[in-house]
Amino acid sequence: MKSDDSLKELLGIDFPIIMAPMFLVSNMEMMKAGIRAGIMATFPSLNYRKEGELEKVLDELNAYSKNYKGSYGVNIIVQKSNPLSIKHTKICLEKKVPFFITSLGNPKEVIDGAHKYGGKVFCDVTNIPHAKKCLEAKCDGFIAVGQGAGGHAGPNPLQVLIPALKEHFPSVPVIAAGGITNGSGLLSVQVLGASGVSVGTRFIATTEAGVNDNYKNAIVSSGMDDIVMTTKLSGTPCAVINNESAKKMGYTQNWFEKWLSNNSQTKKWFKMLVQIRGMKKLEKSILPNNYETLWTAGKSSELIHDIIPCEEVVNRIKKEYEQSLSSLVNLI
Ligand SMILES: Cc1cc2nc3c(=O)[nH]c(=O)nc-3n(C[C@H](O)[C@H](O)[C@H](O)COP(=O)(O)O)c2cc1C
Repeated sequence: MKSDDSLKELLGIDFPIIMAPMFLVSNMEMMKAGIRAGIMATFPSLNYRKEGELEKVLDELNAYSKNYKGSYGVNIIVQKSNPLSIKHTKICLEKKVPFFITSLGNPKEVIDGAHKYGGKVFCDVTNIPHAKKCLEAKCDGFIAVGQGAGGHAGPNPLQVLIPALKEHFPSVPVIAAGGITNGSGLLSVQVLGASGVSVGTRFIATTEAGVNDNYKNAIVSSGMDDIVMTTKLSGTPCAVINNESAKKMGYTQNWFEKWLSNNSQTKKWFKMLVQIRGMKKLEKSILPNNYETLWTAGKSSELIHDIIPCEEVVNRIKKEYEQSLSSLVNLI
């Protein structure tokens, strides 16, 4: 087996890793490091909410990525409760962003717009019905978000989700997201049918990540049992480190919050309110010199033992991948 050349060609990259989009974490330094390392570096458009900021970032990345083997992409949360979804989609399409990851909602507008200039769109999926909708909108691939992922983790294990996606949609490339930090992780999901991986939590514990050192150190010191899910942050299950802040916030919405989230009259506005409040809480925990400690992370924190540059993360995965491949071949 070798790494999937068709995915590399499709995305214009040198190695099948996506540096996953991470709210408040992904920054320009990480993007540039990923592009230099030959992978697909992505960020959520919501990291740039001030007027004119996103346009500037895209100009810089378009110029920078011309010189290297990697590329970049933008994540847009296309759910109605994201007030910036339409505005950010328009800006990204005008700037001809080469790659998109859409999450939640309907990706059609992003896909139609990107396809006009050859941009590619992969959609976050956690189950078959949502994948079907994304494919009807003509997405170019899926990001299979499985159990244990950082952020909005899916409910299904990758060992089921990836083969199920390949069974239903054999010709659509699948990228695996959730719990992958090393070369054997990459190889294991390739065996299941994935063409590459999307790695989030590992890139938080990097020298470039735009978060305070307490957060980076918490990733290094946390194990898999320290990660819990909460719906309090955004209304959708989200993985966080189970520290005092998480315990204080709680893990599930009460009956009234649930009612407001499901009622057709209040749904959109209540979700928006919950998300804005959640964003504020996270912002207070992540930025330098802040002392709140509400931190998003996936179960792969178990396997992360150091804070290193992004390029070293990629080089390690490449090296471990070769080693895992040789050990596997020796087994046969
Ligand atoms: C801190 C953090 C923030 C995230 N923010 C986003 C986001 O804004 N949009 C999104 O689609 N996914 C987001 N994710 C999910 C990642 O894109 C990716 O699916 C996930 O991190 C992969 O699992 P892993 O963390 O186990 O590698 C976030 C994940 C983390 C850890």
